[in-house]
Amino acid sequence: MYSALFTHVLRRLDPEVAHHLAFRAIRFAAATPLLEPLLRRSLAASGPPVAVLGRTFPGAFGLAAGFDKDGVGVRGLTMLGFAFVEVGTVTPAAQPGNDRPRSFREVDQRALRNRMGFNNEGAAALGDRLRRLRATPAGRGFVVGVNIGKNKVTSAQDAPADYATCARLTAPWADYLVVNVSSPNTPGLRDLQSTDQLRPVLVAAREGADAVTAPGSVPLLVKIAPDLADEDVDAVADLVLELGLDGVVAVNTTIAHDLGPGGLSGPPLLARGLAVVRRLRARLGDGPTIMGVGGVTTADDARAYLAAGADVVQGWTGFIYEGPFWASRINRALAADRTGAAR
Ligand code: FNR
Repeated sequence: MYSALFTHVLRRLDPEVAHHLAFRAIRFAAATPLLEPLLRRSLAASGPPVAVLGRTFPGAFGLAAGFDKDGVGVRGLTMLGFAFVEVGTVTPAAQPGNDRPRSFREVDQRALRNRMGFNNEGAAALGDRLRRLRATPAGRGFVVGVNIGKNKVTSAQDAPADYATCARLTAPWADYLVVNVSSPNTPGLRDLQSTDQLRPVLVAAREGADAVTAPGSVPLLVKIAPDLADEDVDAVADLVLELGLDGVVAVNTTIAHDLGPGGLSGPPLLARGLAVVRRLRARLGDGPTIMGVGGVTTADDARAYLAAGADVVQGWTGFIYEGPFWASRINRALAADRTGAAR
């Protein structure tokens, strides 16, 4: 049924318009008495919990950053079966992002290409929204990560202050924070992955979070690009160990394609994403958490990330091509693996 809806309706719309309509429908369902509990009961992740980052995740498969940039749909997205939601990327000041069109379907590859450019309402607005979410018992139960970035107008030199600001405004309500230095659509952002630039950014984010929460209590991760050379992946891993960071999210979208502007996501990312996660795990040892992301379509793809060394897995593009029951399907399969393994 979803494939018919996709082929005849959604695919004919601009991807960003389709995203807004679908997201609005999800939020409407989540605000509808009787329907919300019904959907949540049948779809929400409820398998054996997964212990990561000092938290208890209700499942191993969550939603990657960029779908819910402003944290407006956590209730609906968990209702549909995402075990956790990474909101953002947010920046200190609200910004409009790049001109449209900025999101493209590459249907042959079941992929997406985007050059959104961190359109978001700003970290203060997100912090306020999450504070209200956390004021309710149900809202406190959701696992929500916050992905933080820098404004387009901020120079590389001033980047650490942007990350500190975002961390300070959101950490009290975040289960974890992710320093995003890997989106291809903010000029110069990915240069922050070099260790001499990354170190002050990570230190500033840690200090921003620690200024408003018990020091070290909110886990801090860094999200990297699949386009890093292997030696640069190793260098980031070494920095994670040196700074005592809590983990890595791997990978963001790739610019290694010739389809036009923007970062490519979906199945073309899978092989490199798995290789990066494998490499990170070998370098990091057992301590730091790895969130594997990139090109997951099936439960077997998610299992491949876990086998490569990820502790949990995220997805984004598959949601568009596979439909509303996708996350629930994957979490159900992964939960069955854990139940079987426990016997
Ligand atoms: C993204 N992604 C992303 N990542 C991030 O850290 N911050 C962001 O704001 C965004 N925004 C964004 C917008 C769109 C339209 C897409 C498709 C993707 C990247 C995303 O979180 C993920 O790392 C990649 O898409 C790879 O996963 P999938 O899509 O192959 O499952």
